[in-house]
Amino acid sequence: MASPSPSAGLDEAFRRRDRPRRQTVSRDRGCRLGYRLLVEIAGIDTIDAMERALHEAGYLPDRGLATALFLALKLEKPLLLEGEAGVGKTEAAKALARVLGARLIRLQCYEGLDVAHAVYEWNYSRQLLHIRAAQEGTVSEQELFGPEFLIRRPLLEAIESPDRVVLLIDEIDRADEEFEAFLLEVLSDFQITIPEIGTISAADHKPAVVLTSNRTRELHDALKRRCLYHWIGHPSLEREVEIVKLRVPGVPERLAAQTAAFVQRLRRLDLAKPPGVAETIDWTQALAALGRQELDAEIVEQTLGSVLKYHEDLLAVRDETLQELVEEARAAR
Ligand SMILES: Nc1ncnc2c1ncn2[C@@H]1O[C@H](COP(=O)(O)OP(=O)(O)OP(=O)(O)O)[C@@H](O)[C@H]1O
Ligand SMILES: [Mg+2]
Repeated sequence: MASPSPSAGLDEAFRRRDRPRRQTVSRDRGCRLGYRLLVEIAGIDTIDAMERALHEAGYLPDRGLATALFLALKLEKPLLLEGEAGVGKTEAAKALARVLGARLIRLQCYEGLDVAHAVYEWNYSRQLLHIRAAQEGTVSEQELFGPEFLIRRPLLEAIESPDRVVLLIDEIDRADEEFEAFLLEVLSDFQITIPEIGTISAADHKPAVVLTSNRTRELHDALKRRCLYHWIGHPSLEREVEIVKLRVPGVPERLAAQTAAFVQRLRRLDLAKPPGVAETIDWTQALAALGRQELDAEIVEQTLGSVLKYHEDLLAVRDETLQELVEEARAAR
């Protein structure tokens, strides 16, 4: 989708493109603030303040994550978050954007993701229409490769955006290694070169960058070296109860305590796919919607599909194990 009005950064690059290529064009320093300054404005000058702000934004981080996010902003470095599925990696970036009042730009990675879908591509159909509209008149190449014919994808948008931006590069482990290598360049210099236009740079107003990975493959050391790193593990029982209460407003206290305890016990079993916090929240929501105040074997049996999504896991937990787990969870509160 083409942006309706070309940005000042690109316009400037476009105007100067007759001069030698690869010149750097950056936005007006006066209207862009570095993240260090934004953090000061948002009043986040300590890790405690970061923890509080995230909590207010609906996210309960552990101390390690609050520290990592705080440092990522202070040092203007990308933060790589790894962890099991459903532990809150993506949500951490969204919460950071809420905290900073920043626009969230998300690049969802997948196998085969290329520059055309991650950075920019030329809007060929629009260029063709333009040529047709000119009819007998001649259209110069320069005119055709101007900002109005450029389709901006998330990376270009983030580097070029006049707004405060949190750039979320989600599930980087799903992208190919070639794309990871390309990303390395972008994250080192915060600039993108469009051969027909020039180089767009965000060197003086870097977006805050959060990368996530489910670790389906190891990422390159070179990428890791450019990032701060934090592993998000499953939360403690107390924290998980708090997260459930935060995300399922009005949930009966006992129900939140029991579902969290039940899921914590499930994680200690040898399951194909241990449930994440996302499952605890979904399950509690379902039980609360059914008007439940606490767990019993029957309702757990009927709703276990909200927690376990593999048939083998469901089979492994049925019967005695299920009964035992319910009793243990009920004893938790
Ligand atoms: N610490 C937390 N505070 C508040 N909500 C949380 C927290 N951790 C997880 N959640 C909630 O759990 C759900 C799943 O989180 P999220 O999608 O961020 O997980 P993920 O680690 O990105 O999972 P996946 O690997 O499947 O993409 C979301 O609804 C999120 O709000
Ligand atoms: Mg995610």
